[in-house]
Amino acid sequence: MSNDALLVLDRVCKSFGPVQVIDEVTVEVHAGKVSVLLGENGAGKSTLIKMIAGVHSADSGRILMDGKEVQIPDTKASEALGIATIHQELNLVPSMTIAENITLGRVPRRFGIINRREMRRIAREALDQLGLNLDVNTPVGDLGLAQQQLVEIAKALSLDARVLILDEPTAALTNAEIAGLFEVVNQLKTKGVGMVFISHHLDEIAAIGDFVNVLRDGKFIATVPADTPENELVRLMVGRDIDAQFPRQTATPGEQHLLSVENLSVGALQNISLSVRPGEVVALAGLMGAGRTELIRAIAGADKYTSGTVKVAGKKLPRNDVAAATRAGLGHVPEDRKTQGLVLDASVAENIGYATMASTAKAGLVDRKGQRERAEKVAARLRIRMGNIDQPIRSLSGGNQQKAVFGRWFSAGAKVLLLDEPTRGVDVGAKVEIYELINEITSSGGCVLMASSELPEVLGMSDRVLVMSQGRIAGELATNEATQDSIMALAVSNVHREDEMGKK
Ligand SMILES: Nc1ncnc2c1ncn2[C@@H]1O[C@H](COP(=O)(O)OP(=O)(O)OP(=O)(O)O)[C@@H](O)[C@H]1O
Ligand SMILES: [Mg+2]
Repeated sequence: MSNDALLVLDRVCKSFGPVQVIDEVTVEVHAGKVSVLLGENGAGKSTLIKMIAGVHSADSGRILMDGKEVQIPDTKASEALGIATIHQELNLVPSMTIAENITLGRVPRRFGIINRREMRRIAREALDQLGLNLDVNTPVGDLGLAQQQLVEIAKALSLDARVLILDEPTAALTNAEIAGLFEVVNQLKTKGVGMVFISHHLDEIAAIGDFVNVLRDGKFIATVPADTPENELVRLMVGRDIDAQFPRQTATPGEQHLLSVENLSVGALQNISLSVRPGEVVALAGLMGAGRTELIRAIAGADKYTSGTVKVAGKKLPRNDVAAATRAGLGHVPEDRKTQGLVLDASVAENIGYATMASTAKAGLVDRKGQRERAEKVAARLRIRMGNIDQPIRSLSGGNQQKAVFGRWFSAGAKVLLLDEPTRGVDVGAKVEIYELINEITSSGGCVLMASSELPEVLGMSDRVLVMSQGRIAGELATNEATQDSIMALAVSNVHREDEMGKK
């Protein structure tokens, strides 16, 4: 171990009940460097950084700062040591404003009275660092996921930390926002801040990292330079090669439309019509704010639309009725699993079982035993990593929670899957498993409508691409003829036209 490390986790261990999730891991953080933490879903990355953040305490091992052992029993102690953490799952209070959230726990006071003006100034300064043009008086709950993520980042930046931990900060961000964040990270490097960075986007590692610590199953595997080739990183991470990143098997599409949407309008969405045939995967591409999530939610029955119709297998669905949509064979994997997809305190089995609770009930009673058994099977098929099926879903790693949302529709035998950023936060190996589930749905006569910001995923897994721009479908491309450039050209098409009109 070198002596010049800013922070060292020295042979730390952590168990939850009988399950050891961190096993004698040693990791160093150096001033002015970004150390990447890499590992599959459930490898222990978040658990490890929570020991530095004061959320979990280590069962054994030491934490050293500037070479001296420190105790970090709670988050306050962590902050007092100059450690700021951006957690994977957001920690903002939705009902409070941006300014209140950013200054939470250190509200400026003047003569004992909350100094709101100072509070807003601190928040404004933090947002400016990221070039964020948001009103600091906005309640955080009114923001989209990406903006909330950026506020969380701004909050950490405003703490002037010596150590900054970023747990999947880029998962919900656009390329432009990621570039902005990386600029800030580079500035912090020159100021000597030591950083830990976690991401499932392998291409970000060389762009921002200095070295990579690989974890597998809670064990330390290796430290390698950040410019290590991606396939080598994958091998270290999953312990095997992954040959096909996008294993799409095209199915011959059926004749009848399985999903059809006619002239649907709601909010900024204007007269959307589309149809998907059995066996097809149709991707919805577009920029953030193009209306993909609104469209998916309206079709799924999660939101009310003002006009138009949605049909499954020719049968019209009532508006804004999730239960009816579920009965008709529709399944929805939402953008934000934490607030929309899961009941966090319920067990894995219950979360997987929600969509089939009514249809499998016997004499009006929930078939708990059957639910559990079916959930066990699905969890095994999806290789959901957990201690057991009765543990609260909250305690699963982020990527494994996402698999569980998938598992719900899989066990319900959904015919039409509506996916909104289905592999966000999912590791490379588990992504392939999710793609194989998509293949299975389409080869058995189902269909998929998938909103995705990951263009390689759009190109690798769909048959057709509908590109949305400003609430409309700007164009359609056959995937085998599409490129990232042709998709992007359509995605910005309306935007440019309006810009030009604005200039005249
Ligand atoms: N509070 C808890 N109680 C029980 N088990 C837990 C708890 N927190 C984490 N675990 C388990 O510890 C293991 C590691 O989880 P962790 O969240 O650290 O993974 P991760 O590497 O961050 O994964 P991801 O990439 O999906 O975010 C998982 O198997 C998880 O289920
Ligand atoms: Mg994690």
